[in-house]
Amino acid sequence: MPAAMHVSDAAPKKSARRAKRAPSKDLHLTTEQKRLILNSFVRLEPALDLVAQLFFLKLFRLDPGLRKKFDGPVEMQAKKFSAGAKLAMISLGHEDGLAPTLKLLGTRHRQMGIRARHYRTMSRALVWTLERSLDKSLNPKTPVAWNTMLSRFTKLMAG
Ligand code: HEM
Repeated sequence: MPAAMHVSDAAPKKSARRAKRAPSKDLHLTTEQKRLILNSFVRLEPALDLVAQLFFLKLFRLDPGLRKKFDGPVEMQAKKFSAGAKLAMISLGHEDGLAPTLKLLGTRHRQMGIRARHYRTMSRALVWTLERSLDKSLNPKTPVAWNTMLSRFTKLMAG
């Protein structure tokens, strides 16, 4: 198990909580941010199917028009969610190396009619899911780190 996964997801501090929703302009992830993302993912992973359901509920509430893009069975949605999440975790160790793959994946998404605004909606739904799932044990710097990673994905895939 990587050392990253032993990092404490410690108690929230007020100042960091206030910064939680501030959009990050710098899309470079620090080592600490990568650790926080991995750490939160490891804690969600055993319940990834449930997490996926919560995510899709929120996503479709934010943009009901997206429902028709995911017309397969729920289990299939959970599988795709899991594939996307794992790809994101792998990308943490290969930030630049994965860029061509992400650009290709972005082309495929564009062909399905998925635009930059959908990435922003997805990011909101995902961070909301993370906050609800980990609740009080969530380090307030973790959502900031996820937002930075998701902005980077958006830039690569939809930019
Ligand atoms: C962080 C950004 C994203 C990543 C890493 C990601 C990753 C993936 C992966 C790995 C697949 C499966 C590969 C495939 O079927 O070709 C997939 C499929 C899909 N993604 Fe994404 N995705 C992202 C953003 C989005 C967004 C923003 C939307 C729309 C809101 C979206 C909608 C879909 C749909 C509709 C499919 C196909 C599902 C199906 O076949 O039923 N994705 N995505």
